Amino acid sequence: MHTTNPCRNGSKVQETTINVYDFHQRTKHSLSQYARGPDGLDWDTQPDPFRTYAGSERFTLPLHAREIETAYTDLYHPGRISSAALTLRHISALLELSLGLSSWKVYGATRWALRNNPSSGNLHPTEGYIVFPGTSELPAGVYHYHVYRHSLEQRCAVNALDALMGNCFLFGLSSLHWREAWKYGERAYRYCQLDVGHAIAAVRYAAATLGWSVTLLEGWSDTQISAVLGLSRDDDFVDTERESPDVMLQLECKPDNSDAASSSRDANTLIRQLAPGSWNGKANRLSPANRVNWDVIDQIDTFCTKPATTPDVVCPTDKPVLAESRTGLDAVSVIRKRRSSQAFDGNSPLPLSDFYRILDCLQPRKAVPPFDTLAWAPRVHVVLFIHRIDGLTPGLYVLPRSATGEQLLRNNLREKFDWTRAPICPDWLPLYHLVSANSRNAARTVSCHQAIASDGAFSLSIIAEFDETVKETPWRYRQLFWEAGMIGQALYLEAEVANFSGTGIGCFFDDAMHEILGIDNTVLQSLYHFTVGTAEKDARLVSLPPYGHLEQMDTE
Ligand SMILES: Cc1cc2nc3c(=O)[nH]c(=O)nc-3n(C[C@H](O)[C@H](O)[C@H](O)COP(=O)(O)O)c2cc1C
Repeated sequence: MHTTNPCRNGSKVQETTINVYDFHQRTKHSLSQYARGPDGLDWDTQPDPFRTYAGSERFTLPLHAREIETAYTDLYHPGRISSAALTLRHISALLELSLGLSSWKVYGATRWALRNNPSSGNLHPTEGYIVFPGTSELPAGVYHYHVYRHSLEQRCAVNALDALMGNCFLFGLSSLHWREAWKYGERAYRYCQLDVGHAIAAVRYAAATLGWSVTLLEGWSDTQISAVLGLSRDDDFVDTERESPDVMLQLECKPDNSDAASSSRDANTLIRQLAPGSWNGKANRLSPANRVNWDVIDQIDTFCTKPATTPDVVCPTDKPVLAESRTGLDAVSVIRKRRSSQAFDGNSPLPLSDFYRILDCLQPRKAVPPFDTLAWAPRVHVVLFIHRIDGLTPGLYVLPRSATGEQLLRNNLREKFDWTRAPICPDWLPLYHLVSANSRNAARTVSCHQAIASDGAFSLSIIAEFDETVKETPWRYRQLFWEAGMIGQALYLEAEVANFSGTGIGCFFDDAMHEILGIDNTVLQSLYHFTVGTAEKDARLVSLPPYGHLEQMDTE
């Protein structure tokens, strides 16, 4: 690491000195040592949580998401939600329900915003953009979503984007790694990728409330994403922190297999059509003082740069339609009430039917959020510490998310595990009992001694097919975290629906978790932990509405 000013050049051309295996190894937390991070928090360099492009034209978005009445249970039933029109109201709702604010919390003199997507340490490194074909309400161009103002900043104005005809537009995501690195140092890169996964799923669920489909454009290179979103425009990032390109999502307002819709997948056509456009806005600097640069993050980001590729063709295996959710809540209410809990009651059991429904939501199904977004077969699986589920013996269980994954897990986990099917488990849900135990202490210890991992109904570790995925295609290291983050987002929402709460756990002792499972190589690696329980409310916190500050700004 070194102190730097101006901030890193985001064009990913610097010399690479680290590979995925070295990075992954050195950013493991262990019982004896945490991964390299700052000694304490340097408040002088605390990054601004909101990116602004000064000088860009602003389009205010109306706040009408609460008018969307889609039933939560309908999100999982393809065809039940009719496709909403491509209006500014609906785009506004999509942005609000995915990356928008959900509330402000006040404690004494301190006030902070929470969002509909979660983020490690509430630092929110993920930025959102839309690439829009143009309507009477919003001209064609590239827009940055300004979360605090709930407005669109027009980065590029262009006469027309014919490549986006056919009721479709693009939603791009990028990361400001520095926001996480400020607090977490080298391991922050992993957290940024997990946050991207949460954000992809948040966009998918928000789009589903409108009856829209979402596809991750897996073929695009990072260079193409940067070119379309304007991230490679050096002049707009003078003396500021750069953003790294993550994903481009295609949103379709009607299932449309026409040529026009599929041509939008061609990045180069879009780049050509944006070429005559006029770019506006200069990115704000996030940290006022000179900041520490975690060089290893820049190096791994360069190493994991994605080239253009031919996407896989994936056909999810047939599974019965998900059981109706017993919540009477509408989807918007569930999305908005999602919260991370800092403490669980250590007592309440989760009914078995709710537990099986939660797990069933983690399996990919055609046209069902969030995993229908992905252009690849599942590469991450779930190992569970069961503490308090009615009808289940406490202990360790495993949910492989594909037949290939199951074989890999059977071949690589501890030999003495018994691999018997969990009782009264639906045929299509491959949940296996591994060993009976009171695993509460173990769960807490491996999750950096956090009591949330032991005081809930269950906690879990997301295990990736590591070697097979990253050996030849290092950029897929990032995709593994995205998939794990998407599982986290599904768990957050489903926990709310069961009147429980979830919390993502990025802080865990990697190899201590592997030791429990008998993993002593890199065929499988744990990438994320999560916990679900009954929340203990923190009565000291006061909640304020998410956009009250906009009314104040209007009257100023
Ligand atoms: C990738 C990720 C890792 C997280 N790790 C932890 C953790 O180790 N411990 C914890 O208490 N909360 C953890 N959280 C929860 C965040 O602190 C929480 O999302 C953030 O404070 C915002 O609050 P909200 O989720 O209620 O919006 C994590 C969240 C994410 C998305």
